[in-house]
Amino acid sequence: MLFPQGRSTAAPQLGAMFDTKMEARNKSEQTLAALAVSEPAQIPALFAEIRARFDSEVLSAEDESSWKRFRDAWLGRKSGVLALITDNWLKPATPQLKRAVGQELNQIRAHVESTIEERRKSVEAGAAESAGARDRVDLSLPGVLRPLGSHHLIRQVLQQIEDIFVSIGFSVVEGPEIETPYYNFEALNIPEFHPVRDDMDTFYLQLPKGAPQPLLLRTHTSPMQIRTMEKRQPPVRVIVPGKVYRRDNPDATHSFIFHQVEGLAVDSDITFCDFTGTIEYFVQQFFGPGVKTRFRPSYFPFTEPSVEFDVSCIFCGGSGSAANGGACSKCKGSGWIELFGAGMVDPAVYGFVKYDPKKVSGFAFGMGIDRLAMLKYGIDDIQVFFQNDVRFLRQFP
Ligand code: PHE
Repeated sequence: MLFPQGRSTAAPQLGAMFDTKMEARNKSEQTLAALAVSEPAQIPALFAEIRARFDSEVLSAEDESSWKRFRDAWLGRKSGVLALITDNWLKPATPQLKRAVGQELNQIRAHVESTIEERRKSVEAGAAESAGARDRVDLSLPGVLRPLGSHHLIRQVLQQIEDIFVSIGFSVVEGPEIETPYYNFEALNIPEFHPVRDDMDTFYLQLPKGAPQPLLLRTHTSPMQIRTMEKRQPPVRVIVPGKVYRRDNPDATHSFIFHQVEGLAVDSDITFCDFTGTIEYFVQQFFGPGVKTRFRPSYFPFTEPSVEFDVSCIFCGGSGSAANGGACSKCKGSGWIELFGAGMVDPAVYGFVKYDPKKVSGFAFGMGIDRLAMLKYGIDDIQVFFQNDVRFLRQFP
């Protein structure tokens, strides 16, 4: 469309230059007497001419403004064609002609009104259509580049841990972060008076009066040892990743929320050798073949014997000395870094899940994912995992 406006405004003017149309307009401006019409039989031809003019002009009403001009030209109360016909033909008509003129005028009025209304609808639809065309997607434009996210480092490390354990026959299970004291403590052989509860101070939920039991945020993933053994019969080999909570004040190595992976293997003849072999395999897969490992005696109410598991310091290669000759700050010169707690499942625990301690044995471990991530990637503040600073997160795409 070259001149969308020009065409619709120009059309009536151009039309007015043609004789017939000129005549038609002129005719409605004259009386019947002036037009030398005196017989009713002459009336239909007169109106047919008007109608033909209307039908051809209506096509020029192409957009809203030309449609309005067209409507006013025909239906305008003072000088619209139909008003002129009423004034010039009908009103002064002789009684002999009046009836025929009235009838024809009614017919053409109905035709004009309905056609103009139809035209309005199609002009509106056309406007919507061309608006649609304007909004159409241009496939040749470059696409919208959406910034791609990536997994949080904790999630990445968790995935690495899972891959290693799954490859040696463990399956992954998850459990609730809101626990009962029974699963978090009692069934793990930690009765209410036990001093170890002091290390695991946590958050209790405010429950409505009359709640059947207190609820707390789990302090470790160990409750899932119990829940798993309640549900499954040996052999059991699972790891349990998840969030845990403790009422710790935040510092470089403490956070009130952190992540653990629990491990549990119970079968008819699992020994301490299976345990060390599994753990050493994991550590070497995770940190690399160069790391050395060691156990130290420790204590957990739900394992017996219990150990603390150490790896040779990843930062100084186990030498204990830093590059500048001083003591390595990470392992404080010892050459070892404490990694996690573990042990053989205490027979007392089997009593809570109706396993026969004479028939089964197994091992369990609980490692901090945050701690493993900090060691592997040389991060010295646990808080960065929870601050959501993209400058940190972007370093681990
Ligand atoms: N649940 C213990 C903790 O959070 C770790 C652990 C798990 C120790 C399993 C022994 C066996 O400290």
